[in-house]
Amino acid sequence: MRLEGKVILITGGGSGIGAASCLAFAREGAKVAVVNRTLSKAEAVAQLIADSGGAAVAIQADVSLAADVERMINRTVSQLGVPDVVFNNAGISPSGRVTDISEADWDDCLNIDLKSVFLCAKAVIPLMTAAGGCILNTAGTFGIRAAKNKAAYSAAKAGLVNLTRSIALDYARDRIRCNVICPGYVDTPLNEGFPPKERDAFLAQYQPLPGLISAADVAELAVYLASDAAKMITGQVFVIDGGQQAGLFA
Ligand SMILES: NC(=O)c1ccc[n+]([C@@H]2O[C@H](COP(=O)([O-])OP(=O)(O)OC[C@H]3O[C@@H](n4cnc5c(N)ncnc54)[C@H](O)[C@@H]3O)[C@@H](O)[C@H]2O)c1
Repeated sequence: MRLEGKVILITGGGSGIGAASCLAFAREGAKVAVVNRTLSKAEAVAQLIADSGGAAVAIQADVSLAADVERMINRTVSQLGVPDVVFNNAGISPSGRVTDISEADWDDCLNIDLKSVFLCAKAVIPLMTAAGGCILNTAGTFGIRAAKNKAAYSAAKAGLVNLTRSIALDYARDRIRCNVICPGYVDTPLNEGFPPKERDAFLAQYQPLPGLISAADVAELAVYLASDAAKMITGQVFVIDGGQQAGLFA
């Protein structure tokens, strides 16, 4: 039990990496606020945690809206306590070059994938300064190197990498750590539009390690980063990509 009694809030907790993380944190003894834009998905994950004897609350929120972010933090505090860990994981992954996407598409992606982390950090950091805390963010390898046809997503995730470093530097003396996880291709509902045959050809070309990265693999890294074992780690980028970023040409 690496997180016994800790309170953790996970956004995008109703699906993929977020859902696997909710279950992994609960297995380590944490009380989990499962936040999702669609309430029924958050409720399903919270129920799985409750069924295995853990503590969880399901909260509906759109993390790109300041009022929703305030409300999700307040409900977490009143139902579980002040969060020790906030995992900003909710995200969307739209495609398109700058000449293809509308201003509204751009704003939507930047608001959900980047501004949401600003809003959440702004709301939770004042509560964390008493006891210290941990903020985790999910960016992606597209935050380190851009990809074709992913202009808004690559920009948002790159911004998130440096926002992570800014938060780490600005609040280190308050014992608040902030790190970012950069997955490569993870087998989640986000990628369900990728036909398996094309996906396998893509991975054969670009991912050196064979096999699929699972949401549970990413959740395991998140648990480690939130635990006391990582107490001196802050401002860092953690890549989990089967070796993609190791070289120029996989
Ligand atoms: N799957 C991958 O290959 C991959 C790779 C790199 C990074 N990521 C990142 O990992 C994170 C999780 O993605 P996933 O693969 O688990 O996808 P997913 O689609 O399974 O889960 C994302 C969750 O975020 C929620 N969400 C979206 N917009 C929201 C909003 N405005 N407010 C609240 N919740 C919202 C969705 O409802 C969904 O439950 C995302 O930030 C994504 O960009 C994923």
